[in-house]
Amino acid sequence: MSNQRSGDRGLSRRDFLRGGVAVGLGSAAIGAPADAAQDRSDDSTGESGRARRTKGKTEIVLRINGSDRRVEVEPRTSLLSALRDFASPPLTGTKLVCDGGNCGACTVHVDGRPAAACMLLALDAVGHELRTIEGLGTPEEMSPLQQSFCDHDGMMCGFCTPGMIMSLTAELDRNPKANEEQLRAACAGNLCRCGTYPQVFEAALSVAKGGAR
Ligand code: FES
Ligand code: FES
Repeated sequence: MSNQRSGDRGLSRRDFLRGGVAVGLGSAAIGAPADAAQDRSDDSTGESGRARRTKGKTEIVLRINGSDRRVEVEPRTSLLSALRDFASPPLTGTKLVCDGGNCGACTVHVDGRPAAACMLLALDAVGHELRTIEGLGTPEEMSPLQQSFCDHDGMMCGFCTPGMIMSLTAELDRNPKANEEQLRAACAGNLCRCGTYPQVFEAALSVAKGGAR
């Protein structure tokens, strides 16, 4: 199964690799604080501002599920690790499986678009609206798609489930009447080793057709 997301639905692995060049050059590529360029130009040590700024831990503010969260991270910390290991309380609904952009288990929304959190640096998520599975609903008040997954037995071990739901939610937000082909394309990068695909698509189609809420 392809690990590339189609069209403009999300940040694909290829998108990330392209973006990696920019990431390597500086956080201005995504969400750089306004004074970052000044940091670089003010540096009189001969060492680039980026290099100076990327030593040790630094506290950043991530906008997660509508709230500002202070998180202390290292420059190498992925967004996935920031959510699971450094946020307090931790946000462990986003799953770590391959840690390499191949399985989609870590899918979150970045400015409304699905993205693999294991392939993004936490530093580069500053200034972006992030949404995780915890931001969709609660056990008492699930989102329509979460409820539909329960109604259609759309999960077994559950490791792929948050990522599936985040990818499908992004598609349904964008295209509430999505058909099966569009829903399948939306989570083409989400792998399920338990083989729950038929139930997953039943659940998503039910929401698209206005049922099972
Ligand atoms: S854990 Fe991120 S894509 Fe698999
Ligand atoms: S439910 Fe187990 S990997 Fe999908």
